[in-house]
Amino acid sequence: MGNEAERWWSKDTVAVVTGANKGIGLAIVRRLAKEGITVVLTARDTTRGKEALESLKSQGLHNVKFHPLDVASPESILALAEWLHKTYGGIDILINNAGISSLHKDMTFENVKPVLDTNYFGVKNVTKALLPLFHDDTPGGARVVVVASTLGQLKHLESKDYVKTLSDREHLTEDFVDSFANHYLKDVANGSQKEGVWPIWSDWVNSRYGRSAEDYTVSKVAAIAYVNALHNILVAQPGKEKKINVFSCCPGYVDTDINGNTGVKTCEEGADTPRVKTPEEGADTPVWLALHSPEGGSGKFWTERKVIEF
Ligand SMILES: NC(=O)c1ccc[n+]([C@@H]2O[C@H](COP(=O)([O-])OP(=O)(O)OC[C@H]3O[C@@H](n4cnc5c(N)ncnc54)[C@H](OP(=O)(O)O)[C@@H]3O)[C@@H](O)[C@H]2O)c1
Repeated sequence: MGNEAERWWSKDTVAVVTGANKGIGLAIVRRLAKEGITVVLTARDTTRGKEALESLKSQGLHNVKFHPLDVASPESILALAEWLHKTYGGIDILINNAGISSLHKDMTFENVKPVLDTNYFGVKNVTKALLPLFHDDTPGGARVVVVASTLGQLKHLESKDYVKTLSDREHLTEDFVDSFANHYLKDVANGSQKEGVWPIWSDWVNSRYGRSAEDYTVSKVAAIAYVNALHNILVAQPGKEKKINVFSCCPGYVDTDINGNTGVKTCEEGADTPRVKTPEEGADTPVWLALHSPEGGSGKFWTERKVIEF
């Protein structure tokens, strides 16, 4: 990947990947490990995580370590942060990949809460806990990548007020993103999701997922917006002595467990033939962002190595 002149990374570069025991996360770990980077493969289940680690070792990749991480657990996040500090002193790359959907489930609070806790609050809490650990001498700056989805684009939200505030990039704040996510959770708890506020269901979403993509969409809107809000915080820091780039992206439509290994168009919406990617192909943009950190790209939403509309 890239030419030799761009290779700023080495075995001393430390990358952390969440939800990495399978799917796109495992493919991301493999790609980074093949680049010679020290990669911390994290997974919420130790057995599944260690099996993934062994599969990489059997492919000759010995520069991967395992540590448990449940992104929905503050205790687990804290334990990872302490271990990273003790073991490596600091890190260079964080890829927030862990995600869930409530595919084909009812929109009850019990089903919806874990989706928001993982896909939005988990991303935010892991990132905030690891921010102090970023090295201040990573060439080009440290990198945070959030694997979101084009289902989180604002075109899927019905509320004109939310669309207006969430697309006001320069003024977007973490508090506002929190209030957006919590408003949705409150409406679900009360059974009062109003029409005209939450996602619009265009036919292509309805035909495959029905309402079960609603919470996923809200969680990914929040994840993309958080990246924008975090970028605003980072550039406003006095001194800016520690540069941290932060990107959100969509991997494309990838054949994994999260979508029941089905095939529809998402990132390639409008294409004549739906094309389902392999996890390795889905890993391309997240890995490319982590390694190449395109100038001027921080805070933005990417797919296929290009900036796209939030
Ligand atoms: N596949 C696609 O077409 C597609 C499209 C757009 C975006 N994405 C995004 O890509 C990311 C990776 O998904 P995938 O397609 O590779 O699906 P996947 O194969 O289902 O992998 C999801 C990973 O996240 C982990 N995870 C779930 N909850 C977690 C938690 N609380 N703490 C830590 N790890 C957790 C899962 O662990 P377990 O094995 O323990 O469940 C699994 O390792 C997700 O953020 C997803 O939303 C995927």
